[in-house]
Amino acid sequence: MLSVYDAVFARLAVDAGVNTLLVGDSVAMALYGFESTIHATVEMIASHVGAVRRACPGAFIVADLPFGSYRRGLKTAMKAVEAMARAGASAVKLEGVVGNEKIVSHVIESGIPVMGHIGLTPQSVLALGGYKVQGGTEEGAARLIEDAKELEDLGAFSLVLECVSRSLGSRISSSLSIPVIGIGAGAEVDGQVLVASDLLGLSPGRSPRFVRRYLDGAALVSKAFEEFCRQVGEAQYPSESESYD
Ligand code: KIV
Repeated sequence: MLSVYDAVFARLAVDAGVNTLLVGDSVAMALYGFESTIHATVEMIASHVGAVRRACPGAFIVADLPFGSYRRGLKTAMKAVEAMARAGASAVKLEGVVGNEKIVSHVIESGIPVMGHIGLTPQSVLALGGYKVQGGTEEGAARLIEDAKELEDLGAFSLVLECVSRSLGSRISSSLSIPVIGIGAGAEVDGQVLVASDLLGLSPGRSPRFVRRYLDGAALVSKAFEEFCRQVGEAQYPSESESYD
């Protein structure tokens, strides 16, 4: 699974064989320059879901429910879910379990599949005290295993497990029958997810340990932009063949 937000990268991801597209609330950081995912809104994500759906009519697209959209009661939550489904989402993802039980069941009963997200839940970064590995104590690990089982019991079709030790990733994945998609959760889970701009080396600053940069995208793009500026400055672009008679 990859987090993508636009038609160009969505099409490239599907053509490359990516199984599931996630329009994550990470869009607020990756595309809009915010410091955390807390700034993502329903309108922001739904608009990107629309772009991804238009580019990839047959893809399985998961839309994140952003911060605040599912903690103000069922009515508000269902409005957000409807917006995502109408924009083209195949499923929605929400973070955490405690306090979300009714919402998860209600959304599933309404016919929209739900993906859970536990471990490091970026919408709670203020309460978690930063982006840290989760489930480090036996008590914390047991709580995450319970949360994972609860999500499965509630009917979630899959869950994202973020930033936990390899051994806890393995324990959680082997105690569930639904697929566990890891991000910083080691290799012994059922699938992996990354933010496309992270793996392409387009995200500024230091990456978390679990990000593998498959491309130095920022350097390649900068080089192309510099070349364009230089060639325009030196009247090398456009050439005759790039102009109309
Ligand atoms: O918002 C997002 O892109 C995500 C993934 C990193 C799992 O939630």
